[in-house]
Amino acid sequence: MAAKIISGTEIAAQIREELKKEVAEIKEKHGVVPGLVTILIGENPASISYVTGKQKTAKELGFHSIQDNQPENISEEELLRLVEKYNNDPTIHGILVQLPLPKHINEKKVLNAVDPDKDVDCFHPVNVGRLMIGGGEAKFLPCTPAGIQELIVRSGIETSGAEVVVVGRSNIVGKPIANIMLQKGRGANSTVTIVHTGTKDLASHCRRADILIVAAGVPGLVKPEWIRPGSCVIDVGVNRVGEKMSEKTGKMVPILKGDVDFDAAKEIAGAITPVPGGVGPMTITMLMKNTVKSAKLAAGIK
Ligand code: GUN
Repeated sequence: MAAKIISGTEIAAQIREELKKEVAEIKEKHGVVPGLVTILIGENPASISYVTGKQKTAKELGFHSIQDNQPENISEEELLRLVEKYNNDPTIHGILVQLPLPKHINEKKVLNAVDPDKDVDCFHPVNVGRLMIGGGEAKFLPCTPAGIQELIVRSGIETSGAEVVVVGRSNIVGKPIANIMLQKGRGANSTVTIVHTGTKDLASHCRRADILIVAAGVPGLVKPEWIRPGSCVIDVGVNRVGEKMSEKTGKMVPILKGDVDFDAAKEIAGAITPVPGGVGPMTITMLMKNTVKSAKLAAGIK
């Protein structure tokens, strides 16, 4: 039987509707408007596209939003000063520095300069530590992993006691999603394995998974025979494998492929995310959710 397709596009739209109502309510009752700044350095086309999407969504939800574009040759010192300016701006509740940064800038130094209370990306070591500790310590969850958990929960997939196998150990997806799924509580409490480029037999681990989360950045890495029949497959890979003409706009657009061979996998899995339209739309939505939470915390709203 073909798998249920988990639509990130639909679930993200649902969450955005919920957030829109929440934003209108805190504006009306408390006069609070969530503020988000996205800082973009240089002209990397993928980064421009991500940041444009984030700003468009922020505006749709009724945020105060600032797109701060800076030239490729901005110095590290100037960028640190800019981050400090937004740390001290009470109308801003979320600061996002779009990655990657140019080579002459120390990424770690910049991410560490963001006020942890405004770190809606959840990249600051303080927030990474809070996530690891769990038990309600975390103010924010990192956006892509939080989106993955929402997809699983809202699709009615049981996580408690489930075997979760995560392919990839990045700081943005692999490590934090493994951490989230092993915490006690709703949408987690799983038995988690992380596999990576040093793992001896990837296939045998993947075959054990009730929930397989793939964030390797290798197009088509996971073969259909690695998938346990009836399992849930979350494909985080967004690999640009070429270009095609868009029927809507007539412009050239990237062809995106996931880390999983989707057409074959959907005949074996019980539920699966497509690429595009799976995890992707959730990332921006969770960024908005974090910014609303940050605004509420700053204003002492429960
Ligand atoms: N570049 C690619 N993904 C991300 C993300 O989630 N946050 C930031 N700040 N930069 C990125």
